[in-house]
Amino acid sequence: MNTIKNDEPSPVKEGNIAIVTGANVGLGFETALALAEKGMEVILAARNQKKAIHAMHVIKTRVPGAKLHFRKIDLGSLSSVREFAEYFQEEFRKLDLLVNNAGIMMPPYSLTQDGFESQFGTNFLGHFLLTGLLLPALKKGNGSRVVTLSSIAHKYGKIHFNDLNFSNNYDKMKAYSQSKLACLIFAYELDRRFKDSGFPAISVGAHPGVSSTNLGHQLSPVLRYFFPKIGQSAEAGAKPVLMAASSPSLNGGEYCGPDGWLEMRGNPVLVGSTKISRDPEIARQLWEVSEKMVNHRYLF
Ligand SMILES: NC(=O)c1ccc[n+]([C@@H]2O[C@H](COP(=O)([O-])OP(=O)(O)OC[C@H]3O[C@@H](n4cnc5c(N)ncnc54)[C@H](OP(=O)(O)O)[C@@H]3O)[C@@H](O)[C@H]2O)c1
Repeated sequence: MNTIKNDEPSPVKEGNIAIVTGANVGLGFETALALAEKGMEVILAARNQKKAIHAMHVIKTRVPGAKLHFRKIDLGSLSSVREFAEYFQEEFRKLDLLVNNAGIMMPPYSLTQDGFESQFGTNFLGHFLLTGLLLPALKKGNGSRVVTLSSIAHKYGKIHFNDLNFSNNYDKMKAYSQSKLACLIFAYELDRRFKDSGFPAISVGAHPGVSSTNLGHQLSPVLRYFFPKIGQSAEAGAKPVLMAASSPSLNGGEYCGPDGWLEMRGNPVLVGSTKISRDPEIARQLWEVSEKMVNHRYLF
C-alpha cells in the first residue's frame, strides 16, 4: 500500500540533485550533460578522475555555470561504493535522481575485489548496494527517482542461482545477459518495494538500444567493427534514460527504450520486457541473495 504520495511529476528540474554513475563517457556523459542543461546539480560518479575532470570541462563549455562534482566510485568494490555513499550523505542533504548507468560488457573472466563475477558485480551488485545506501537521501528528495540501465541482452538472460558468479563454464555473453536481467528485475522490484512501504520515490528501467560507445571494446574484432555501424549515437541512446528520469507521466515500474526495429534505435517510448524480468518470485530470491552478497539490508 502506497501511503506516502510522490506528488512531484519529475525530479529533473533546476536546483535538484542527480548522481550519474559512469558519467565520464558514453551514455553516462550524455545523461549528465542533459541533466546539467536542465539546471540539475550533477555528481559524476566515476572510477577515472582524469576522464571525469575532462567530462566536466566539456559539460561546462556547453553549459556555462553548470553545477558539477566529481567523486570517485569503483562499482566493482563494495568498500568504494560505501565510501561514495558516505561522502554523498555528508556533503548533500538530499538526492532527487540516481542513474545507475556504469557498466562493462563481455570481458574475459575476472572477479571484482569482493570475489563476484565482474559483470554481475559491477553492473548489478555495485548498484544494488549503492541504491540501498542512498535511500535516506532519496527519501528527502523531490519526486525522487532511481533509473537503472538494462539492455536488449536481458532477453537472453536468466538468473543462474546455482552459480551466480559463473565459477564453472564462464560464458561472457550469458554473464552479461544475467547482469542486465538482474538490473531490470531490480528496477521493477525496487519500485514494488517503494510502493509497498510507502517510500516517496519511483524506480524505472531504461535501455539505449545499440549505441556507439566504448562498451564494445572487449568484443571480437568483427563485432567491434559492426557495433558502431548498427548503433545510434550516444546522445540518441541516452534519450530513453532521460525519458525514464524525467517523464512526468511515469508512475514507476516502467521500462523505456527506443521504438525502432528490434528496439536497436529510435525515439524513446515505453517498451516491454521478458516474463522472467517481471516474475516477483525470482525478484524476491534475487533480492535476498543480493542483500547477503553485499552484506546490506534495505531499510525503506
Ligand atoms: N552502448 C550500448 O549499446 C548499450 C546497450 C545496452 C545497455 N547499455 C548499458 O549502458 C550503460 C552505459 O554504457 P555505455 O554504452 O555508455 O558504455 P561506456 O562508454 O563503456 O561507459 C561505461 C561507463 O561505465 C564505467 N565503469 C565501468 N566499470 C566501472 C566500475 N567498476 N566502476 C565505475 N565505473 C565503471 C566506465 O568507466 P571507465 O571510462 O573508467 O571505463 C564508463 O564511464 C551500461 O550499463 C551498459 O550495459 C549500453
